[in-house]
Amino acid sequence: MNQISITSRGPLRGEIVPPPDKSISHRAIMFSSLASGTSVVRNFLQAEDPLRTLEAFRQMGVEIDVLNAPPGNGTSINNEIVINSKGLKSFKKPDTEIYCGNSGTTMRLMTGLLAAQPFNTTLTGDASLSGRPMKRVIKPLSEMGAVIRSRDDGYPPLSIQAGNLKPITYSPPVASAQVKSSIILAGLYCSGTTTVIEPGKSRDHTERMLKSIGADIKVNGLEVSISGADRLSPLDMTVPADLSSAAFFIVAGLIVPESELLIQNVGMNPTRTGIIDILKKMGANITLENETEISGEPVADIYVKYSRLNSIDIDGDMILKAIDEFPILCIAAAKAEGTTRITGAGELRVKESDRIAAMAAELKKMDVSIEELKDGLIIEGKENMKPARATSYGDHRIAMSMIIAGLTINDETVVSEADCVNTSFPGFMELINSLSNNT
Ligand code: S3P
Repeated sequence: MNQISITSRGPLRGEIVPPPDKSISHRAIMFSSLASGTSVVRNFLQAEDPLRTLEAFRQMGVEIDVLNAPPGNGTSINNEIVINSKGLKSFKKPDTEIYCGNSGTTMRLMTGLLAAQPFNTTLTGDASLSGRPMKRVIKPLSEMGAVIRSRDDGYPPLSIQAGNLKPITYSPPVASAQVKSSIILAGLYCSGTTTVIEPGKSRDHTERMLKSIGADIKVNGLEVSISGADRLSPLDMTVPADLSSAAFFIVAGLIVPESELLIQNVGMNPTRTGIIDILKKMGANITLENETEISGEPVADIYVKYSRLNSIDIDGDMILKAIDEFPILCIAAAKAEGTTRITGAGELRVKESDRIAAMAAELKKMDVSIEELKDGLIIEGKENMKPARATSYGDHRIAMSMIIAGLTINDETVVSEADCVNTSFPGFMELINSLSNNT
């Protein structure tokens, strides 16, 4: 599906379970590999990004078995991953370089872990990842004593030398769960306490999951401290559905007239729920049902009904809790009445693509009046967007956002370079198709 054609096809109705959480899936493989013994992870996201992490640990000698659940097994759990590891100090030097594909999470978190290993490694990535800044992890890890060489002073590939690290206290200039987690992973191998003090609260899956396997990790507001560890206990967890993937269907349900969706079993970690807060402020009819907790993460079903959205101002604090939802929020803003102003979103320029430039260019093609700011966008809502030949820039979230926009337009919209959807959401089109004509 290198190219996807889409037109409006009436209301979207029904119940869906989005794919498992990407951030948690990466960490589930990493932390199980750090633990001593047999870990079990149910409902792991078998998409390109987390599979890169899984392959990386196989390359380092960790035994990982993927047991797929039979389809239609009556639950939303689609697999069980069994990870056997001898623990923190058991990794072997990989025979070749580790390829991280499109995955910033794989590369940035692995850099922290590898900086503390007694062997040298090289991390590479695809064209998009090779253009993403790595200085943000190289700098603090170098302060800890790591020796990391990079292209053009801060870009992949990264050559990481065997190292003995010392603890630091570090205040990153930008709130980033990838940077925080990279330092925490390195800190696990230091004797003493490593502390990260963030300027804002980034997602905290690392803290929750490491705590659950016995790491000495303390959280005090924006400050996270980790002590060096000798041994971690096996992980046993079920991954909830990904709110960042659910977001495409939440917005689709809101902007396609007469739609009504129940999106089930979705992770509601409070560091991630900005999209719900923002959309509710815009007048969205969204309610949470069956709120509970699974494996240390809050989970709920999200009921969404077509709503007339109004514009609001969205600032940096709101964006941090919705950092991956910017592209689909731009689609909601384009369908809202009035002018939406998004600021404080400069980080979006260094995601899988420059998402500010990409959304400005693609929405302009749909005849939306839009102004690009250094750190955001000003978007005029438009009742009827024009069909367009859109591109994804190889960015999964841009591709899915443009496809959702196409669902509101009567003539055909084409989204090229759409294969990248598989980075986080295999089966995206099939799921959309399953919801049409369910009256
Ligand atoms: C992620 C953190 C975020 C997010 C990314 C996944 C993670 O990146 O955008 O998709 O799993 O830690 P930053 O930490 O760079 O903001």
